[in-house]
Amino acid sequence: MDLETRGTEVRVVRKGESLLLIVVALAACSRQSPVAPPNQSDHAVELLVSSDLKGEVEPCGCNLEPLGGLARLSTALKSVSGQGPKHFLLHGNLLSEGHAPSPQAEAQFKLKRAFLNRTLPTLGLSLALPGPADRALPKDLQPGLIGGSPDLAPGAYHSLKGGLLIVREPVQSSLPKSPLKVLVSERSLDALRGDIESLQAAGIGLVLVGGQSGEQALWTSLADGIFLLRSGERGQNLARLELHLRGDGPLRELPGASKRKQELARLDQRIEAIREARDRLRVRQASPQAIAARDRQLVAARRARADKVNEPLPALPKTGNFVLYHPLVLDSQVADDPATARAVAEHHREVGDLNRQAESQRQCPEPDKTKAQYVGSKTCKTCHQAAYELWQQTPHSKAWKTLEDAGRDYDYACVSCHSAGFGDAQGFCKVTEAGDRLNVGCEACHGPGSRHAQTGDKAQIERDRGLAGCTSCHHPPHTKAFHLDDRLARILGPGHGANAAPGEP
Ligand code: HEC
Ligand code: HEC
Ligand code: HEC
Ligand code: HEC
Repeated sequence: MDLETRGTEVRVVRKGESLLLIVVALAACSRQSPVAPPNQSDHAVELLVSSDLKGEVEPCGCNLEPLGGLARLSTALKSVSGQGPKHFLLHGNLLSEGHAPSPQAEAQFKLKRAFLNRTLPTLGLSLALPGPADRALPKDLQPGLIGGSPDLAPGAYHSLKGGLLIVREPVQSSLPKSPLKVLVSERSLDALRGDIESLQAAGIGLVLVGGQSGEQALWTSLADGIFLLRSGERGQNLARLELHLRGDGPLRELPGASKRKQELARLDQRIEAIREARDRLRVRQASPQAIAARDRQLVAARRARADKVNEPLPALPKTGNFVLYHPLVLDSQVADDPATARAVAEHHREVGDLNRQAESQRQCPEPDKTKAQYVGSKTCKTCHQAAYELWQQTPHSKAWKTLEDAGRDYDYACVSCHSAGFGDAQGFCKVTEAGDRLNVGCEACHGPGSRHAQTGDKAQIERDRGLAGCTSCHHPPHTKAFHLDDRLARILGPGHGANAAPGEP
């Protein structure tokens, strides 16, 4: 194992090392369910939480440091070892990205749902609670019982071994006694802050917030004895809560934890800043020496973080309920679990096969002949030879090969940003019929050009869509940072909008 991974909170599982998966027995679930006894021994209960997976089984690999993925999640979950009960809880939007899949992507969506239903139990999933966008999906696309998890109706609760009571909104004040009541919420931070009294009345000690997009991970205190956890999205983070529950009384952070938390947050910010600086150097094709210097800084910063994590905390008091929050970012430091990685790869193959077959039967909608159509970049080349040649030197002209190399060219979750006009009534609906519209061609930025190509009339083509034109594809998680001038300078030049490039006459 290398220096960077040693001592971090994840113990990376080496090849050949066999680990027993702790199978979590589910207690019966209903309003009448018996409440689990508090933790008899003094072993910590481990609560592992991830939220708003949005069906992401693997990051797309679009940027230099993609985060998340089931294979890493699996490794991270296995690495949590302890004598006490271990529970893995998923909440927030499990499948939905916030909108229903396009008609051609529905079959693939269902295949992914089946895949998650099969795979999540192998990761030790205890409970999955879908979010608002999942419930807004058409009935036949809704998550259903993800991974065999019980379905908690609004207001219902479910008891987990070790003294945890998982409660769904709306909170009832008449919950059974339990060392720790955990509310799974979809409300905003402000709404929760305005409702402290009912949380206190119900004896809630921990609130898990999900179902809102674009949010960063957050651990904070809402009021005395009530903590709030937001675990970020797309399974990029796994929050580990080490809980020492010995009976009633308010939940407290382990002494020393909050100072350590601040120091870790500062180190995390530093790691993130170095990573971003390094990635910008790469994008600008800086010298290998400059990039290597940043890499060294990154190694040192990660080591400092690992040392901080390993620093012993003051001893645990003899009585009372305590929590220690261990945030974990699923980055490249976390190795893939081989079996899960194989299952994910197999799933991707199935998606490709499914769509390839479906295309032979699919009827595409009739194109609207009153509007311009996507025709492909070679048509533009006839009059814009120089622009075409410059474009060919940019990664946009190779974006399709990227998908082919990854075996994802029939994955409809990838096609639209690596081509021009997919799923558009003026474009194409089958990869098999895409022809020259593969790759991020001229029309990905200038719009459908059949009419302009017939006339050369500039009123029939868009010259510049500005920043929004780029960020329709260059947005998180596919692109982390997008600095327009930097990027424009890399796609424009002599023969193609040279005058628009900064520094050019
Ligand atoms: C929302 C648009 C979007 C979607 C959807 C998308 N990509 Fe990308 N992809 C991009 C962008 C933008 C980049 C370039 C990232 C950058 O440099 O900012 C990229 C880059 C990549 C790269 C890196 C190419 C290189 O030269 O290093 C890979 C690999 C990739 N994508 C694979 C995929 C796969 C696989 C999928 C489907 C799971 C996918 N992409 C879906 C927008 C997208
Ligand atoms: C038949 C030749 C021809 C073809 C084919 C052609 N163009 Fe043009 N294009 C022109 C001419 C001529 C102009 C300059 C018009 C002017 O300045 O009045 C132009 C201008 C443009 C402009 C600048 C518009 C502006 O407002 O300044 C863009 C962008 C453009 N073309 C993109 C495309 C794209 C994309 C395609 C392929 C879909 C394409 N062209 C195909 C002839 C062509
Ligand atoms: C249709 C989606 C799409 C649009 C629109 C788009 N890009 Fe990209 N871009 C991509 C993809 C995909 C890649 C990665 C290609 C690959 O390597 O496979 C990429 C890569 C790049 C790269 C290469 C990586 C780097 O930083 O060197 C630059 C530069 C870039 N885009 C700039 C832009 C700019 C500027 C705009 C807007 C004027 C833009 N892109 C609009 C999809 C898009
Ligand atoms: C990633 C987005 C992107 C792609 C792909 C792209 N362009 Fe452009 N194009 C731009 C931008 C941005 C400008 C500059 C607009 C401005 O500032 O005036 C531009 C300018 C132009 C212009 C007008 C300026 C000039 O140099 O005459 C033409 C013509 C043009 N593009 C044609 C093409 C053709 C042909 C292709 C394909 C071979 C293509 N573009 C691919 C973004 C793109």
